Amino acid sequence: MTGVQRRVVSPSEEFYRTYSATQVDAIVASLAQRAEFPFELTYLGGGSELWRAGEVRSTAEVAPVLRDFDTVLARHAERLLTLVPPSTPVQVVDLGPGTTRPVRGLIRHLLDGSRLAGYHAIDISAEMLELARRSLRTDFPDHADRFELCRGDFTGPDLARVLTARHDDAGPARFVVLAGGTLYNFADPTRVLRHVGHTMSGHDVLLLTLRVDTGVDRPPFMDHVRVGGPFKPQQLAGLDLLTIDRSWYQTETGFDRDRSEIFVRVRFVVPVAVTFDVGGDRRTMSFEPGDTVLVWRYLYLDRAGIADQLARSGLEVRLFERGQDSQVALVAATRAG
Ligand SMILES: C[S@@+](CC[C@H](N)C(=O)[O-])C[C@H]1O[C@@H](n2cnc3c(N)ncnc32)[C@H](O)[C@@H]1O
Repeated sequence: MTGVQRRVVSPSEEFYRTYSATQVDAIVASLAQRAEFPFELTYLGGGSELWRAGEVRSTAEVAPVLRDFDTVLARHAERLLTLVPPSTPVQVVDLGPGTTRPVRGLIRHLLDGSRLAGYHAIDISAEMLELARRSLRTDFPDHADRFELCRGDFTGPDLARVLTARHDDAGPARFVVLAGGTLYNFADPTRVLRHVGHTMSGHDVLLLTLRVDTGVDRPPFMDHVRVGGPFKPQQLAGLDLLTIDRSWYQTETGFDRDRSEIFVRVRFVVPVAVTFDVGGDRRTMSFEPGDTVLVWRYLYLDRAGIADQLARSGLEVRLFERGQDSQVALVAATRAG
């Protein structure tokens, strides 16, 4: 019996237009070492269009979980202000602002109380930043010119462009926002938390909005891997750019008990080879039937697990509030000790 013929492809022109040489290197390394396409890179280029579509949704159409993500910061704004010294101005530092939907209510609240000392954002995607800039100009026409948005990766040295370490507590307090569950998409969220925590001063407050395991409404695939979904188009956007046809794999959605992670991965059903151009050198990656590539992960912790992870990162939970009708939670933390 002859084997199934190997599909041999190269990434699309759009792939090389979308990613810098360093990002191409990172994608090849991640595929080789972790069998994973880095999800944060799917926000770049055409992938951002999928998020733009979400921006125009009306409140009535929105699922409870998204509604909670959009409103939870503003609803608890007054309680958050009790975590910084009274009357101190507050600067908002938004890590991965995306559409800015969740943070606009908080900005409005701070402006109304004459407490906003500035808004700084950093996002890995130029397209998402453009989306953010436009939304902020629409909602805050008199202030948005002073808002600073820059492109960069907050998990590395670029963080210093929006959050500089201060050795005293002089100057405005800072709300450092990591909203929309972004933190838990990273392979090593504790490393990211430590990195951000090291740059915070004693007056800064980290604000996380996350989907947490409350023991109810758990995803139905937690006990068995579900073949064929559910998945979002964003989760396959990276493989699409590699021109890996969707009929060459099956999607699997499941829960990794050892890591407490929900995942979406693909499992190849035919042999596939992808040849990359890495700085002028060709590098081929081969996948055999049965091999998997992870395209999305989400650390799914309960309240105690989140507090424990923050403690291991040198941070202490100061407030934990649930969304109105979903598993969304707002966690505020400050530097421990
Ligand atoms: C899940 S979206 C959340 C957006 C927004 N905070 C919200 O809650 O709606 C993640 C955002 O973070 C950005 N992002 C992801 N990883 C990043 C990184 N390492 N550095 C900078 N931005 C990143 C993405 O481009 C995207 O805009």
